[in-house]
Amino acid sequence: MKRICIDELQHHVGETVTLRGWLYNKRSSGKIRFLVMRDGTGLVQGVLAKGAVADDVFSRFDDLTQESSFSLTGAVRQEKRAPGGFELDVTDLQVIHIAHDYPITPKEHGIEFLMDRRHLWLRSSRQHAILRIRHEVIKAIRDFFDGRGFTLLDAPIFTPAACEGTSTLFETNYFDLGKAYLTQSGQLYGEAGAMALGKVYVFGPTFRAEKSKTRRHLTEFWMVEPEVAFNDLDDNMDLAEEFLEHIVQTVLKNRAAELKTLERDTTKLETVRRPFPRISYDQAVEILHANGLPFEWGNDLGGTDETVVSGQFDRPVMVHRYPSEVKAFYMKRDPENPKVALAVDVLAPEGYGEIIGGSQREDDFDTLLARIKEHGLPQEAFEWYLDLRRFGSVPHAGFGLGIERTVSWICGLEHLREAIPFPRMIYRLTP
Ligand code: 4AD
Ligand code: MG
Repeated sequence: MKRICIDELQHHVGETVTLRGWLYNKRSSGKIRFLVMRDGTGLVQGVLAKGAVADDVFSRFDDLTQESSFSLTGAVRQEKRAPGGFELDVTDLQVIHIAHDYPITPKEHGIEFLMDRRHLWLRSSRQHAILRIRHEVIKAIRDFFDGRGFTLLDAPIFTPAACEGTSTLFETNYFDLGKAYLTQSGQLYGEAGAMALGKVYVFGPTFRAEKSKTRRHLTEFWMVEPEVAFNDLDDNMDLAEEFLEHIVQTVLKNRAAELKTLERDTTKLETVRRPFPRISYDQAVEILHANGLPFEWGNDLGGTDETVVSGQFDRPVMVHRYPSEVKAFYMKRDPENPKVALAVDVLAPEGYGEIIGGSQREDDFDTLLARIKEHGLPQEAFEWYLDLRRFGSVPHAGFGLGIERTVSWICGLEHLREAIPFPRMIYRLTP
């Protein structure tokens, strides 16, 4: 018997096939029994008519409970009204395993109940849609860079020092070498890669001991970080907008069904086309003041500030030249105004806030060393990084895109926790 997956049914109309999966739901109507099987690739309806199938097959239908696993054999028929568009006239049903009291039922459950059962919750159609969109986002990212001459550079996760400031480091004991820290960003290694290979991207998990319990913060999240030798801030912004346009338009094209499952208003994504508006931090402050917010020049933009600024635009907005005081040690200052850094944050629309943070890097040895000291960072741990300014230093720039924030925005989620299979937050380490 031919064993296929549900998403292959279209090629087997009229044939008898075997499918394996789990029970999504079932119902009876007179002498007919209906069941819906899911196998991870889709849903299919099976139909059993009393008399037409053997009695033991018919009684096995009665044993099936939600999420029991089984195989189903039957002839494939197109049926527009059935979930998935196909029906199977069942001739055989074999039970693989009976599930007892599956805890997630079609009724409403609270978020903590579902989060505690995240390993099972992943079986629901809403979670399928989100995971597939996450997959598509990651694939679009890889295709984008791979198609433009970038080399993937894997950065280490155990690191000897901070990249994004010392306040959010997770530390661990590292044999006789003392403390190691979980990476906050692979950027510094990406810079070494850019000096070696020209254009690279680092892509991996990053860790922040964020005390914030907001809907935008995880303690473990995935970040992709391109780094390009000879790029300046404007080149960096050009790359960021082309990149984001590519991700969003690819998801719209390839994941329309999933976006529909999530009831996402896709008109809000269709506008994500180049060019994106570019405003300076100073202009952002003017917008905040015009909206009656008592914002003081020199502060970082908070969640509410980002929502107000991005609310002025129908596509992501790039805010550049932040006060250097609120930004990382490695950012180059604007030669025309040393109070600001050649930084850029990209704010997503609809209140999703910062999804990209990036900058042109300080490429002068003496200035960088002075910054390391000013920030109270251990020079010894940064000697290798300073070498990049000792040996053929060049202007260069890059940025980091947070995967979960991007998925959350594209899917229209309320909270980042659904954008990653097993979220880590300050109050959640399980499952
Ligand atoms: O702005 P961040 O801190 O920038 C960096 O780490 C740079 N080293 C990147 C670079 O230039 N190569 O973080 C970049 C992005 C943010 O814009 C956000 O999307 C995401 O990472 N991010 C988080 N996502 C989830 N939870 C958190 N706690 C996050 N912190 C940052
Ligand atoms: Mg940032």
